[in-house]
Formats: sequence, structure tokens, C-alpha cells
Amino acid sequence: MHSETLFSIYMYLKQSSFIVLLCYSARTLGHFSVDAQGVSQPANPLTSNFGCWSDFVANYTLCTKGDFLKISICLAVLFTFNFLWRMMDARMFDLDGKLMPGPRSNLSGKNFLSVIKKARKSKQVSLAVLDMINTVGDGNLCCGKVYGKNIVIAAHPESVKVILQGNHNKFPKDPKYARFQFLFGQGLVTSSGDKWKQDRHLMNLGFYSENLKGMVSVFNLHCTQLLQSWVSRLSQNPITGFQSLKSDLTREMSNLTLAIICQSAFGYKLSSYVDVKESSTFDDMNVLMDELNQRIVDPFDWWPYIFPKRRSQVRKALENWMSLLEDIISQRMEAPNDEPAKDLLDIILRVGKDQKTHLSQREVRDHCLTFLVAGHETTSGTLSWVFYELSRNPAVLELCHKEIDANWCFCKSNNELTVSHEDIAKCIYLGQVIKETMRLHPTVPVISRRNKEECQLGQYRLPGNTVLSISVLALQRHPSFWEEPELFKPERFAPEAIKNTLKHPFQFVPFSSGPRNCIGQRFAQMEMIVILARILSEFTIVGIDPEDERNIRFEETITYHPNNLKVNFRTRTRVD
Ligand code: HEM
Repeated sequence: MHSETLFSIYMYLKQSSFIVLLCYSARTLGHFSVDAQGVSQPANPLTSNFGCWSDFVANYTLCTKGDFLKISICLAVLFTFNFLWRMMDARMFDLDGKLMPGPRSNLSGKNFLSVIKKARKSKQVSLAVLDMINTVGDGNLCCGKVYGKNIVIAAHPESVKVILQGNHNKFPKDPKYARFQFLFGQGLVTSSGDKWKQDRHLMNLGFYSENLKGMVSVFNLHCTQLLQSWVSRLSQNPITGFQSLKSDLTREMSNLTLAIICQSAFGYKLSSYVDVKESSTFDDMNVLMDELNQRIVDPFDWWPYIFPKRRSQVRKALENWMSLLEDIISQRMEAPNDEPAKDLLDIILRVGKDQKTHLSQREVRDHCLTFLVAGHETTSGTLSWVFYELSRNPAVLELCHKEIDANWCFCKSNNELTVSHEDIAKCIYLGQVIKETMRLHPTVPVISRRNKEECQLGQYRLPGNTVLSISVLALQRHPSFWEEPELFKPERFAPEAIKNTLKHPFQFVPFSSGPRNCIGQRFAQMEMIVILARILSEFTIVGIDPEDERNIRFEETITYHPNNLKVNFRTRTRVD
């Protein structure tokens, strides 16, 4: 049964119980009296001959069963109509009574409920939202009511500015983020108020440029392992003379970025390419990601959780990751810290000590798990989109190779090409390709907040407690701010074009913006450039087989990414 249906039944039962309660009160308060012939009469103290309230109270009697039934039926019909009307009515008015652009009815056509339904079936919410903004909305806003709750979806940079730049206490995250607490605990994604502010201040230090420099060697190390595994899988094409392979990029990028974040965040060395035993650690992470995704698309997050098999799977996966993290953290907390900091965990523990900000082991664990989850699927999803776009745009791929070849000065240590921190700055075109990918396919396509108090959004004065969602996808394809928004054009972000491209500071926010922007933005940008440069220096993309192309699923769960993406690569040097 769909959860909207369940929700409707729940609402209906709630209303019905209210009716029963009302009837019961009517009955017991005896707003009916019985006359001398035993016929029930309305006992209105104003019209009846009861002189005063005490007379009325003294003379009332219970209504007959028939009357009670009639009143109950009338009230039930009334409330059913009221309920259906509320269900049907999707219009939202601002505090000045202005009708806001959006769906009129929840029963047919495009509305928020149909989008939720679509999300559950096809897992493609953002494209449906984009369509709604442009058809039933006014291209900038789409507002409506679902079960009486006000929802605003914004796609105009000015509205985005109000929502993201606002004070974090006045525009807290939407309560639905609490669904992720089973995994993130009180980490940065789910915490709020003073706790978030204090922790964010501490964590910011871990992501300083100086500290990130040390992580570049970790990015390279894992790229080397990936490329070695690719080389071992190569087979020669007798016609072209090139050696080639097919990569399941969705899985390989996910494993690669998970391995990178594990080592950069808390020094745990995972390598899916050399050790099969570790597959259970990856499997556990997949179970947790599935659960997280399930909770995103299903408002009844407890519903799948009541099945014992699923619950025990999730609990086991969570316990495995938690105990792994707790072991690492307790060892670090006890160890003397006279060596240079190796990873984010070291930095956080040291800064915490220096600043006398005491973080408990549990709090540190929550932060590590948050970095792990927030830092791997977003990055791997973006990389999958990059390779997908490169497979469709050979001219862009060519320019990437050109830039890499021109910078062949990437330091050669141990006979292998590695990308240093300084080299990253030279990869200007690769950076443009990543930015354009994130514009067209933002992996976090929706950012949600709630306004605690009334606020002004353009010409509308919104009531407090409205859900304010930003459709990053619609914003970054807004025709008034982007030329040919549907086309993949990395040259938009060329240094000489950027001023012309970015007309508004809030028209491009793949990492969000304002106080609660992505803390890992710089980390992710560096990591993606290194991975792209390393792979494209040794391999080029041949394309995607038609059969594989048909099997790609563009899924939107916690992130929006291509799933089941299989791409053919070949080495860049011919073997004759
Ligand atoms: C391409 C990669 C990434 C993208 C597109 C991305 C995007 C985002 C976005 C849009 C938000 C704001 C979410 C919201 O307000 O609802 C966010 C927050 C966050 N991201 Fe990322 N992210 C990426 C990589 C990373 C990495 C590598 C890390 C960690 C190493 C990370 C850690 C976080 C954390 C902790 C937050 C919460 C920040 C706070 O509320 O204070 N992200 N990210």
C-alpha cells in the first residue's frame, strides 16, 4: 500500500475520532431535551423557556438514539467533505492573501503528491519538480499545500539567497533531516543550533587548505590501485591494437571515493582492488546507503524498518561500522600526539584539545560517519556524471587530454604519474568540466529549510513554518540566467567567460552556500581533479555500448546520479 494512502487513512481516522469525540460530547452535554410527549427538542437556553443557566442544566436530558445517529451522520458527512476539500485544495496564499504560483488541486495533474508518487516509482524527483516549476509554477517559484502544510520550491537566485544566507537559527534544516539521525547521529548534517555552530567552527579547521594538502597523496595512492586493477583486466583489441576494458563506473567510483574518505578522515586503509575480504565493509556501507535512500523517498520511514530482516541487516551493518570507528577513535584519543597530524580525525582531536572544546568519543564518531557518508556518494555520483558527459562529448574529452598532456610535468615518482597539490591548479579545463557537470547534474538536487518566522520571498510574505526547498537543478538550468541551459558547455566556466556567466552569486550552488554550505567543497574539488587527471592520463573513453546505454538508470535518492553506468575505456598508447 502506498504511504500516501496510509497517510490519508491516518488523517481520516484522526478526523473521524474527532467526530466521535464531538458526538460523544454532544450526547453527554445533552444539547437536546425531551418534551412531555417524549419528542426530542433542541435545548437552546436562549429560546427555550429555561429562565437561567441553572434551569437549563437541571432540565436537560440525553437525546434519543435516533437523534444521535442523525447528528453523527451529518457531522461525518461534513467532516468528510471538509477533509476531501483540504486534500484536494493545493493552493497556497501568502500572509497578504496573494495566491502564490503553483498547483490548484492535489487530485489531478501536476502537484506535489504526484511528484512524491513519481519519486517512489522512478526515483526521479528533480526532473518532475523542474517540469512543475515551469508549467504550474511561474518558472521561479512553485508553491502549494499538502495536507495543509505549506511548501515552497524556489528556483530563482534571489529567493535562494534569502533561504541560504539567512541565519541558521531562523532558517533551520527541514525536520525531515532527522530521518538520517540513525546514521549521522549529531554530526554536522543533522545537528542544529549552538551544537552545530560550535562543531562547525571546530571542523572548519580540519578543512583548511594547509591541512588538505596532505590528503593529495591519499587521492593518488588509491588512484594508483584502481589503475593497477584496470591494467590487470585489460584485453587487446586485434583490430585497433589498443588494449581496452569495460568499467562499472558507478561501483568503481563509489568504492574509490569510499576508500579515499576512509583514509583521509580517520586513517583506515580500505582497498577494494587488492583485498576481497574487505568487500563486507563495502557491503555494510551499501546496506546503510540503501536504508538512507529508502528513508528519503518514503515519508513513512519506519514502514520498511518494521520488517525484521531489514532491521537486523541495518543494525548489523551499523554496528560493524560503529565498532570499527570506535576502535580507531579510542586508540587515537589515548595515543600521544607528538607526530604531525595524519588525517581529519587527528586534526579534530588536536584542535579540540587546544581550544578546550571537549568532544566525546560518540560525538567524534558521529562526525566521522557523517564525513564518510556525505563525502563519498556525492563525489562518486559527480564523477559518474563527468564520465557520462565525456562519453557523449568527444570534443570535450579531447580538450581534457590536451590539458593533461600539456601538464605532463605532473611529478613522476616511482615511475608513475602522480598529481601534486600544485598540479591541481594547472588543471583549469578539468575544473571547468567538473563545474559544468555539477551545473547540469547537481548530485544534491534539492536543499530544504524551514522558516521559523514569517519572511519575505520576492513579492510574497510567507507564513512561518513553511517548508522552503531549493530546486538546485531548476536553478542551475534557469533560462534567464543560463544561455542554452540544457547544453553541456564547459567553456561557460572558462576564466575569461566566468564574469559573463555568473550574473548572480546564487545562481550556481552545487555545494550550497551561506553558513551551512558544504564543508568538504575544496576537498571534493581537489579529489575529483586528481581522479580525473590520473584516469585520463592513462586511459581514454571509447564510449558506452548501446545495450549498456539502455540499462543506465538515472536515480535520485540521497543523491542524483547515473546508476549501472558501464563505460568502455582503452589505453592511450597502442601496443603493436
Ligand atoms: C561533489 C561532492 C559534494 C557535493 C556535491 C556536496 C554537496 C553538499 C551540499 C549541497 C550540502 C548542503 C546540504 C544541505 O544543506 O542540505 C553539503 C553539506 C555537507 N557536506 Fe558536502 N558535498 C560534496 C562533498 C563532500 C565531502 C567530500 C565532504 C566531507 C569530506 C562533505 C561533507 C559535508 C558536510 C559535513 C555537510 C554538512 C555541513 C553543515 O551543515 O554544516 N561533502 N554538501
